[in-house]
Amino acid sequence: MNPFHSIQWIDGVVRMLDQRKLPAETVYNDYTTPDQVAEAIRSMVIRGAPAIGAAAAYGLVLVPWHARTDDVEAVRAELGRADEVLRASRPTAVNLFWALDRMKQRWTDPSLDTVTRLRDALLAEAHAIAREDVEINMAIARHAFPLIPDKATVIHHCNTGSLATVDYGTALGIIRYAHEQGKELFVLVDETRPRLQGARLTAWELIQYGVPFQIIVDSASGHFMRTMGVDLCVVGADRVAANGDTANKIGTYNLALAAHAHGVPFYVAAPTTTIDMATPNGEAIPIEERPAQEVTHVLGECIIAPAGAAAANPAFDVTPARYITAIITEKGVVYPPFEENLARLFR
Ligand code: MRU
Repeated sequence: MNPFHSIQWIDGVVRMLDQRKLPAETVYNDYTTPDQVAEAIRSMVIRGAPAIGAAAAYGLVLVPWHARTDDVEAVRAELGRADEVLRASRPTAVNLFWALDRMKQRWTDPSLDTVTRLRDALLAEAHAIAREDVEINMAIARHAFPLIPDKATVIHHCNTGSLATVDYGTALGIIRYAHEQGKELFVLVDETRPRLQGARLTAWELIQYGVPFQIIVDSASGHFMRTMGVDLCVVGADRVAANGDTANKIGTYNLALAAHAHGVPFYVAAPTTTIDMATPNGEAIPIEERPAQEVTHVLGECIIAPAGAAAANPAFDVTPARYITAIITEKGVVYPPFEENLARLFR
């Protein structure tokens, strides 16, 4: 599909495109231990909820793959340790925990009674997670298609494309698909302070897909809704609670408020793997706090604040369900009341 891959499994190596270096450099890093993969997730070599889930799944496969023992119980014990390390890498995206739970169902299966069987089963499961992610994204794009006008200006926040998933993307996949099908889209790309996933990553992807766009600063969305006219906003999600409250990249809530004030439809694109029915509402979603230096320095390099200035850096915010027009999943478009309609989706 793309000339680039966020993540690949190559014979005992997890290869990931280093998203910290894009767009200046296209560098792939190779990882051979789950601890390295956990660090790559924490430091955002790979990011985006579905991509993090796939990375964790492949990270676990490294344990039986490189095991130097035939003792299957010793390998299972090491898998338990790796599972904990990976779980601690980032707290908000529920896909991480979903993928680790799914892998755990496999590695705790007592019928996998040799290291080889354990290894083959875990690799098959990780490949299935990766393959399904791409299929899910295509289905999301198809379900969203009727919601997109033939000619539309769209605001997108953060990066939700092929880089944030195994391939194709969720919210950005919707934009890409509509463009491929001939709709005339113009994208206002929120730059997405402080890590600039919009300016660096979404712009990089949109150039490759030939979708016209302009980067705007995050605080400009209200201005463009008032002056230029915006037809819709579409964003991704890191965790959707059972009542529809949605955690996504910091700034999403402000965008939703501006959209609400201007009567602009606000869509969340999320695979069902991002919907956490065990979390009742947004209050219960853990919000990752990242280092202050991400705010006081541009990309960790150039200081833009007085030395020693304090900074708060929540990586995500929660948009209350009442500001969300619909949640677009691979199983269909879910409208309010979300509590009822999300529950129906999982029945
Ligand atoms: O901190 P990041 O870059 O991992 O945050 C990513 C987002 O907030 C995305 O919108 C979300 O994970 C959905 S990606 C399909």
